Amino acid sequence: MSSPCHTSTMLLVFMALAVAAQQTKDRTCDVVGDESSESQMERALLKKLEPLSQMRFNVTVEKSKTENYVYQFRVCREVDTSQDFGGLVQTDGQNGKTTVIGRINETQVFSGSDWIMLIYKGGDSYGRHCGGEKRRAVIMISCKRGVTASSFSIISEEREKTQDCFYLFEMDSDVACPAEDSHLSVGSILLITVTSLVAVYIVGGFLYQRLIVGAKGMEQFPHFSFWQDLGNLVADGCDFVCRSKPRSTPAAYRGVGDDQLGDEPEERDDHLLPM
Ligand SMILES: *[C@@H]1O[C@H](CO)[C@@H](O)[C@H](O)[C@H]1NC(C)=O
Ligand SMILES: *[C@@H]1O[C@H](CO)[C@@H](O)[C@H](O)[C@H]1NC(C)=O
Repeated sequence: MSSPCHTSTMLLVFMALAVAAQQTKDRTCDVVGDESSESQMERALLKKLEPLSQMRFNVTVEKSKTENYVYQFRVCREVDTSQDFGGLVQTDGQNGKTTVIGRINETQVFSGSDWIMLIYKGGDSYGRHCGGEKRRAVIMISCKRGVTASSFSIISEEREKTQDCFYLFEMDSDVACPAEDSHLSVGSILLITVTSLVAVYIVGGFLYQRLIVGAKGMEQFPHFSFWQDLGNLVADGCDFVCRSKPRSTPAAYRGVGDDQLGDEPEERDDHLLPM
């Protein structure tokens, strides 16, 4: 008799849990459009940024002795749950008043070769400035290899315009880096090609000589006699060019040389005489 009541209570609990799960799951960056019409490029970028989502970033700006602000930032997560979707929140150091600069439910993201631009729109409205529009945070993430995330800082606050104002931040991270391609230069490709060709030549020739010609010993190397001749030729050439002392100096040469050396000073004198 209590069964229907019991079941409906269970159902209610499950529904509440489901809603709660849905809500915690949904509190991440949301780009414009619903699931089916979202940009694939933006979704791919959000996936790239996911490793940073567990980190928190703080930067303090001291405008004067009495005026300072703390900016808290998270990548695609709420800074704290009391701020509705606030992904970048400013806290006034004097009175602790918080202002949401940008919300993660209004995210825009795009990238270049070595940077990612993350924009949170839908922040709290400006008062007198910027035509009272909603605040906007622009975060430029630059590629820096080997660094998960660092150097979060504020660059500027543009608010003296009638519209399109923004807060500009920057940080470094390796998620913004392009995928590393293999660094094979033309030279190394050539070297690899030549090496493989030589290997194929030696192995193929060896097998041919051994299995088809039936050669034994050193004769198994392809074109053995040719390489042997070439080796001898090179050795001769080297002997001719590189050996510092001649192996035997012809006797006649020495004689001629001595004679000529004797004559030389006179020749030089003859040359000088007319002057
Ligand atoms: C960042 O600043 C806020 C507000 O001052 C503070 O509550 C929080 O602990 C700081 N977080 C880190 C990681 O420094
Ligand atoms: C984002 O969240 C804020 C606060 O809940 C809400 O006012 C705003 O309409 C939301 N924006 C979108 C596009 O849903």
